Amino acid sequence: MIGCATMTNLAHLHARNAALNVLTLITSEGQPMDYALEQAFKNDQKLDARDKAFLRQLVTTTLRRLQLIDWALDRAMKNPLGKKDARTRNYLRLGAAQLLFMGVENFAAVDTTVTMIARDRHRGVQAKKNMANAVLRRIIREQDQIVAKIESFPLGHLPKWLRNRWLATYGEEVASAIARVQMNEPPLDLTIRPGESADEWAKKLGGQAIGGATVRLQKTGDIRKLEGFKEGKWWVQDIAASLPVRLMGNLAGLNVADLCAAPGGKTMQMAAMGAKVIALDRSSHRLKRLGENLGRTGLEATIIAKDVFKWTPDAPLDAILLDAPCSATGTMRRSPDVPFGKTLRQIGELAEIQEKMLARAFDWLRPGGTLVYCTCSLEPEEGEMPVAKFLEDNKSATRLPVRADEIGIDAPMITNAGDVRTLPCYLGPMGGMDGFFIARLSKTN
Ligand SMILES: C[S@@+](CC[C@H](N)C(=O)[O-])C[C@H]1O[C@@H](n2cnc3c(N)ncnc32)[C@H](O)[C@@H]1O
Repeated sequence: MIGCATMTNLAHLHARNAALNVLTLITSEGQPMDYALEQAFKNDQKLDARDKAFLRQLVTTTLRRLQLIDWALDRAMKNPLGKKDARTRNYLRLGAAQLLFMGVENFAAVDTTVTMIARDRHRGVQAKKNMANAVLRRIIREQDQIVAKIESFPLGHLPKWLRNRWLATYGEEVASAIARVQMNEPPLDLTIRPGESADEWAKKLGGQAIGGATVRLQKTGDIRKLEGFKEGKWWVQDIAASLPVRLMGNLAGLNVADLCAAPGGKTMQMAAMGAKVIALDRSSHRLKRLGENLGRTGLEATIIAKDVFKWTPDAPLDAILLDAPCSATGTMRRSPDVPFGKTLRQIGELAEIQEKMLARAFDWLRPGGTLVYCTCSLEPEEGEMPVAKFLEDNKSATRLPVRADEIGIDAPMITNAGDVRTLPCYLGPMGGMDGFFIARLSKTN
């Protein structure tokens, strides 16, 4: 259970209402979680810092365990809720999350949920007040059984379409381990600026150094208040996301393009190595964040707001990083909203874009240059498959196999072909890592 003893009273009714709105935007309208939370924080002046922390925790906990919360709700209901009852279901999901996983006192979780339902003017919601009361009280009575079931069946926490895919791709043991690690709040990883010692920063910040250049923090408050933030001694980046650039070799003085660069974690790694970086992304909004990140760290890059398919470099490049747009199914630990609004068809569409982007970007590489292709997806269609197809179709491209000693992390992440496949369950006891696919290619003529 997630300790939350200070956040239990009715004073949080406003935050709970805001949580309902955020959850609805994510589950019914497919809005990204970070965006929906950001907008709620910006537009709702009544939310104080504690409200915001509670709201974030409530929404992320609910989404992380949504499938099993729904299972618990359905078994506690006499008559199932229909599609038109989506709003009532979201109230109940939030109530159940507080009861089952957040350590909120029973009376506070039930009273606030029922009060909100009783005050809700949306059609048909008020009529569900008594039912909601009964369902939540039944969950309280059967809490131990429900939690035991949920803990013993991590696969049940995955949406069915992803569960089936991952069972087919990775097998039951690995798929269960991935699902299990996604049930909990992940730790925070910081990439330590080249030239600084990860061990030293681990001591200063009370974290753990891993892989040579990352410090993992299990607990964080406001990261802007941590030592080294203002001076740009480190930046937030999952350890798996730091690997693609680490595999590009020494980039000092080289002309490098970071395609699909925003918000810029990898741009900063390259710039800090002394590369002359073009940071290109089609989203001006996301590039604004990249600009702020560079400003804080005192690093430089040429920022270009353009679509990869509508830009060409002036001269061939020494190295290219293609962090292609993808389904992001490898990042569900941090973004439990990833499955919403995603369909199998979209994965196929993304795979087509990735193949085209890879072919286009490879043309811009000088002979002897290196291109690293990566996606934060667990789907082979977005990693292993486009790269294999590209190598088959392009005789001037060869794979530069990655060696385990280049990574420095104790996990079996090098594939037989010599690519990197990280899984969320690697470093599981420490909180896991994002799922990435990384291939390193070179141009022969
Ligand atoms: C996985 S994110 C990149 C993360 C980034 N490399 C980092 O490490 O911080 C993918 C990015 O691709 C950008 N993108 C998607 N399609 C694009 C296109 N056709 N041209 C340029 N950028 C694109 C998105 O705006 C998004 O910022």
